[in-house]
Amino acid sequence: MRAALYDRYGPPEVLYEGTVPMPVMGPGEVLVRVHATSVNGGELHGRAGRVRFVTDMAERGFPKRMGVDFAGEVVAVGPNVPRPASGSDAHESTAGPGSRGSTARPGPQTADPGSRGSTDEAGPRAVDPGSRGSTDGVGPSGPVGGSGVRGPVVGDRVWGLLPRVFGSAAEYVVVRPRQIALAPAGLDLVQAAALPVVGTTAITALRDKARLQEGERLLVRGAAGGAGSVAVQLGRAFGAHVTALAGARSLDFVRDLGADEAFDYRTTGPADLGRFDVVLDTVGTGLSAYRRLLRPGGRMVTIAFDLDRVVASLSYVAASAVFGSRRVRLFSGNPTHRLIADLTRYVESGAIRPVVDTVFPLADIAEAHRALEAGGVRGKHVIQIV
Ligand SMILES: NC(=O)c1ccc[n+]([C@@H]2O[C@H](COP(=O)([O-])OP(=O)(O)OC[C@H]3O[C@@H](n4cnc5c(N)ncnc54)[C@H](OP(=O)(O)O)[C@@H]3O)[C@@H](O)[C@H]2O)c1
Repeated sequence: MRAALYDRYGPPEVLYEGTVPMPVMGPGEVLVRVHATSVNGGELHGRAGRVRFVTDMAERGFPKRMGVDFAGEVVAVGPNVPRPASGSDAHESTAGPGSRGSTARPGPQTADPGSRGSTDEAGPRAVDPGSRGSTDGVGPSGPVGGSGVRGPVVGDRVWGLLPRVFGSAAEYVVVRPRQIALAPAGLDLVQAAALPVVGTTAITALRDKARLQEGERLLVRGAAGGAGSVAVQLGRAFGAHVTALAGARSLDFVRDLGADEAFDYRTTGPADLGRFDVVLDTVGTGLSAYRRLLRPGGRMVTIAFDLDRVVASLSYVAASAVFGSRRVRLFSGNPTHRLIADLTRYVESGAIRPVVDTVFPLADIAEAHRALEAGGVRGKHVIQIV
């Protein structure tokens, strides 16, 4: 089958469309024909060899594969395919220096359609994906966990993420049901591919880590990028006042997504921004200056760290749990079924929509990486395979 490959770390030009053997489906797995995948910011660093502790662990040697998220169609189901385990949600999988037992948080944040009373601790949420009716188990977010539900079947339109490996930029992936959920009804699968990584990341950051509340002031740094463009939408849907930091040419774009205010990050420093209840950082540099913008009781979540100062940056995040009153939370997402199904519901409720900058064919994946690296992306670059 066709797949995006690279034989050495380097610039976008190292990427090419090659062929690899069809993945072999084992018991408990499903085969998905991938319609599209997306280019995530982190993959640029991976391809360039800047995070070898991640890429070498995910896959030994070369050629290496590309792509984490996917939207497509189930074309075969292996024997003994289980329903997604009801406990296999992202709350247990968002491990990392900033991660601390978010499974303990009840309420709609777990969004288990099978669990009753989970809205009790809803708080002032404008949007509650758990409150929508998919309790029949084959609803819009299924296949779902819990009782009376089914697992994936051939023909299901699904989306999902590979579990800490790369390779979704290919014609087929083999996955366990816990890695997928039904794609939103009526959403084109190429558009859908813009969302699995960044959508689940924004939900984890704002809902589960920061516990953003209606009326709070949210700052999104990197607001026009993949993760930021979803965070702006979700912050708005949660009823927060959203301030966006983005490139000058993207200020109208982030306002259209729902930002109340937008500032050019090249001309606006942290000191010009005021105070916030929640800061979401998708950039990873200068964290201390943004942490100082937190009001009492404020929460800061970062999904990135400074790749030029890895040890110092990670040490700062770790030390923030001990020194200072407002820690910085960093997590590395590895979402599974329940969180992916939550994303489906957020899209179906209208809280989040995919924002596609440009669609590239698989053969032009190098061009897609060049485009993201050049800066100025609005939302996501998508790689169409079918
Ligand atoms: N922890 C996790 O689970 C997780 C999940 C997803 C992503 N990530 C990480 O999060 C980061 C962002 O990912 P992404 O996919 O959203 O990347 P992206 O689509 O490339 O977006 C990055 C955005 O940051 C903006 N930016 C760059 N420098 C900035 C600055 N100094 N101040 C404000 N904005 C700035 C860029 O604007 P211009 O283009 O205009 O410069 C761009 O809009 C990556 O490092 C990625 O690895 C982590």
